[in-house]
Amino acid sequence: MENLFDLGIIGGGPAGYSAAIRAAQKGLSVILFEKNSMGGVCLNRGCIPTKTILHCSDVYKSMKKAEKFGINTGEISYSYEKIFNRKNEVVEKLQKSLIKLVQSYGVLIISAEAKLNAPDKIEADGRIYNCKSIILSTGSKPAKIKGLEADGNFILTSDDILNLNNLPQNLLIIGSGAIGVEWARIFSAFDCEVTVVEAADRLLPAADTDISKRLERLFKKSKIKFYTSAKVDSIDDRVVTLSNLQILTPDIILCAAGREPVIPQGLDFEKDGRFIKVNENFQTNFANIYALGDLNGKLQLAHSAVHQALGVVDYITEKKEIHFDKTRVPSVIYGTPEIAWVGKTEEMLQGCEYKVSIFPVSALGKAFADDEIDGFVKVLSVAGKIVGAHVVCPEASSLIHQFALMIDNCLKTDEILNTVFAHPTYSEAIFEAILGLDNMSLSLPRL
Ligand code: NAI
Repeated sequence: MENLFDLGIIGGGPAGYSAAIRAAQKGLSVILFEKNSMGGVCLNRGCIPTKTILHCSDVYKSMKKAEKFGINTGEISYSYEKIFNRKNEVVEKLQKSLIKLVQSYGVLIISAEAKLNAPDKIEADGRIYNCKSIILSTGSKPAKIKGLEADGNFILTSDDILNLNNLPQNLLIIGSGAIGVEWARIFSAFDCEVTVVEAADRLLPAADTDISKRLERLFKKSKIKFYTSAKVDSIDDRVVTLSNLQILTPDIILCAAGREPVIPQGLDFEKDGRFIKVNENFQTNFANIYALGDLNGKLQLAHSAVHQALGVVDYITEKKEIHFDKTRVPSVIYGTPEIAWVGKTEEMLQGCEYKVSIFPVSALGKAFADDEIDGFVKVLSVAGKIVGAHVVCPEASSLIHQFALMIDNCLKTDEILNTVFAHPTYSEAIFEAILGLDNMSLSLPRL
């Protein structure tokens, strides 16, 4: 048969390109369709550009503190235009190397919009491609909120905000999920006035409550205003009235209230709410078609999508069952200090016997050396095993993987404590927090 492939992939984001590489490594013939740029939201309109800008805001913030460290700098200023251009250069470089990487595995990339003609037929650019298995990894787009429809001028999505090449003085952010919190931290670091409005009764409601409380403290310290249990009631000639009757006059509004799936055309997929319904092996109601990443709504994180992709390719090639547990996927919120968590929250453990230990970063020598004393490592254990960890600390994005390994491998706390943790490091807070489960932290005074 002409144009026959073992695997057809629609969407070249983290799920799509990881699946393509893994499948090619396992000897499958692979074709991948991407209508925009390779790399998906993560590389083009999400993780990478945002973290590139965030890094600049961190550099600016630390330079403003330089005198405290005995460094003379003179007046510090920034050019957002240069920051914006650097962000574009980083994305462009990564895009080019990603294409080369995927092609090096013999994957055929078709730069066109694909639709499904049948469960084993993909149409793109007027041609039909026959595919034994199909992976849908078409991602997501900013959710539309009634009354807060983006106009690209006053009300912006997280896509639009990346296209701004100068900064607003006064910004209102709707939603305090990952996007809202990261942008609040970026803009505030660049000296903009930031207000965050969150419908839930606490900031970052997906996190453990101690993280939300600490974030409130960090926001106050950075002069980021916030209103919880509040929504936008009306907008009249750029004057915003909130449900708590506060009146705000921002230069722009960033709407960061979730993302909705982009579902490819052609077949009638069973849905789970707005998302494509999948079984535990990520199969849709068509057994040879799999839906990964933001599309299935399990967890909208790039690394979760990559993990699903590897599992699905192994399922296709070896019928290896997938056991995806979203609580085992680490979450990271960037900014200073970083926030990360994995495993269960204290709320999830209500009704079962558990131990909790919170070790303050301020008890670490390393934190004092760096002047980064605001944070903690919180661990939760059940029957001598770590089941959850919640971290607000410099390097939290890396530290959290120590906990992910402990949880994934069901390590016992006494086994973990046999490991030597180097001094002076932030990892010592992990050791100390685990010691604290039995009130044995070395760097905290006797209670
Ligand atoms: P989200 O679902 O994480 O947070 C949206 C927040 O908006 C929620 O706290 C919700 O209560 C609030 N909200 C919803 N409607 C509202 C309204 N009308 N008024 C006020 N508040 C309202 O969604 P977000 O932040 O847009 O991110 C989308 C996805 O992208 C998430 O799954 C997120 O985890 C992911 N992402 C991950 C990042 C990371 O890993 N560092 C960075 C950026 C995004």
